[in-house]
Amino acid sequence: MLRKYLLLPLLASYGAAVTISVAKSGGNVTTSLQYGAMEEEINHCGEGGLYAELIRNRAFQGSTKYPSSLDAWSAVGRSSLSLQTLADPLSTALPNSVNVKGTGIVGLANEGFWGIDVRPQKYTGSFYVKGSYTGSFTASLLSSTGEVLATTKVASKSVANEWVQHEFILTPKKKAADSNNTFSLTFDGSKTSSGSLDFNLISLFPPTWNDRPNGMRRDLMQALADLGPKFLRFPGGNNLEGDTIEGRWKWNETIGPLKDRPGRATTWQYGETLGLGLVEYMQWCDDLGMEPILAVWAGLALNGEVVPEADLDFYVQDALNEIEFLTGSVDTEYGALRAKIGHPDPWKIRYVEVGNEDHLSDGLSSYRAYRFSAFYNAITAKYPDIQVLASTINMTIPGTAGGDYHLYDTPDNMVTQFDMFDNFSPDHPILLGEIAATEPNNAGNINWDDTHFSMYPWWIGTIGEAVFLLGAERNADKIIGTTYAPFLMNLDSYQWSPTLLSFNSNPDQTARSTSWHLYSLFNHNHMTNTLPATSSDAFGPLYYATGVDNKTNSHIFKAAVYNSTAEVPVSLTFEGVGRGTKADLTILTAPDPFAMNEVGGANIVNSKTTQIKAGKKGEFSFKLPNLSIAVLATQ
Ligand code: AHR
Repeated sequence: MLRKYLLLPLLASYGAAVTISVAKSGGNVTTSLQYGAMEEEINHCGEGGLYAELIRNRAFQGSTKYPSSLDAWSAVGRSSLSLQTLADPLSTALPNSVNVKGTGIVGLANEGFWGIDVRPQKYTGSFYVKGSYTGSFTASLLSSTGEVLATTKVASKSVANEWVQHEFILTPKKKAADSNNTFSLTFDGSKTSSGSLDFNLISLFPPTWNDRPNGMRRDLMQALADLGPKFLRFPGGNNLEGDTIEGRWKWNETIGPLKDRPGRATTWQYGETLGLGLVEYMQWCDDLGMEPILAVWAGLALNGEVVPEADLDFYVQDALNEIEFLTGSVDTEYGALRAKIGHPDPWKIRYVEVGNEDHLSDGLSSYRAYRFSAFYNAITAKYPDIQVLASTINMTIPGTAGGDYHLYDTPDNMVTQFDMFDNFSPDHPILLGEIAATEPNNAGNINWDDTHFSMYPWWIGTIGEAVFLLGAERNADKIIGTTYAPFLMNLDSYQWSPTLLSFNSNPDQTARSTSWHLYSLFNHNHMTNTLPATSSDAFGPLYYATGVDNKTNSHIFKAAVYNSTAEVPVSLTFEGVGRGTKADLTILTAPDPFAMNEVGGANIVNSKTTQIKAGKKGEFSFKLPNLSIAVLATQ
């Protein structure tokens, strides 16, 4: 537990104000996308999270690592369930199905992703069935006490020797007491000709964000929309890499009808259906106005397997095909494929990252020697407008390429890296693709064998992140963007904590973490230009970035106070901003350094906005408490 912390030698108490004078010009143009989001399949953030499918193990997909099973399913009535691999499966991608055998009213029930949220709204369901049956099906949502929350009859179209899809709608009349609910699908066993039926791809969706079919969970998308991310880095992360070369994330298996997506073993202890695939990622970007940062597989798997130079062409070509699929006109081979599956309009891709953390898993020597350059040269030659990024900065970055820097550390260590980008060389744009305070200051070295660090972001960790982010904001011409990682966690099954958002099957309990509040505040106060400042004091315990939003002419000061023994008085002037100018000053504080926002709990972040006026000399005078984050923006 996070109950102790060490202080950096930054303790200070204040009498006189820290005087900060911000110049009118001379800063950097912000080319940074600033704050974004990162998505990979971890913590059931997609499956059982953002991806709104409510049925767990809907198509009995399996892999060598996670064999097909009846996980999450149980028999209803006097029936037995058996997993089958039939000679005539639903599709080659979905070879497994369940056979339900029994007499009387029989069927199967699913417990969802550790519960199903039931409220008065429209649930859209479907299933495939095979076998001669003259009765009807009943689809229901049931409480843990057996109360029927919604039910509907579905006339059978089922026949022998053919898979037939059935669709239905469920509309509960009231909100369930909790999310401890199940879905059941039953039929009359006496009206089957063989005494059993085969089922596959049993699906149920609540209303989704923008009402997209196969879409996203609304409450989580709302939390993201409120955060205002400017980019999305996907699909990983370790999940892109796969445990083995064969187990890599294969973009072409994530597109098209759901019955043609085979699923795969994630690198995070569970299988995924791939219902959340490449097109869904792009639609997610469209829906939230995020710039896609597409990561392509780069010849390294997590078990250390590396594609030899002589065999790399196939994978380079695969990455080019993926980019063509997304961006090519319908006259190109893969643009035509995109159109064929319902998306004639091309997307725009401005950033492509080659791999993930290629300095790990013994990947660095091959990445430096031939892997990165092979992808970089091929992508840049065909798509000169794309900014290609290396997945590390531990190398000589060639030409116009950029790099990606990840930082999981203690709050103290985040603070010591405040000035990292002030004198950063080489001069290449850097994505801060995974940033989080994970462990308390006294934790010693991070134990990477146990990725259950702090349960949630905690306040002093968030302040440490704020200081690091301010260092990046001061260099917003060098930083492509910054994102917390990992982004989400389903509290009922997670592999890595902390995350920016935490949730369970009950949307009313989603927790926006302390760090969510930091990112949201900084995201909603965007500086188009930094402005240089001089100060009476060196940085620490007050850290800040100064600039202007040229679109609104609002002058902006962003700050964090880390480990001060007293409130820090500030006297702030912006050259050209005169007496009487009004500004909004927002200060975030929390009850104690270890306060966290927990699933189902109240928000502990206190956000207070006051209006202040510039004094005689145009100075804004205010005090910032220890362990606070602040933004002042002139009106
Ligand atoms: O975000 C969790 C993991 O941390 C990512 O998959 C990986 O890139 C990093 O090591």
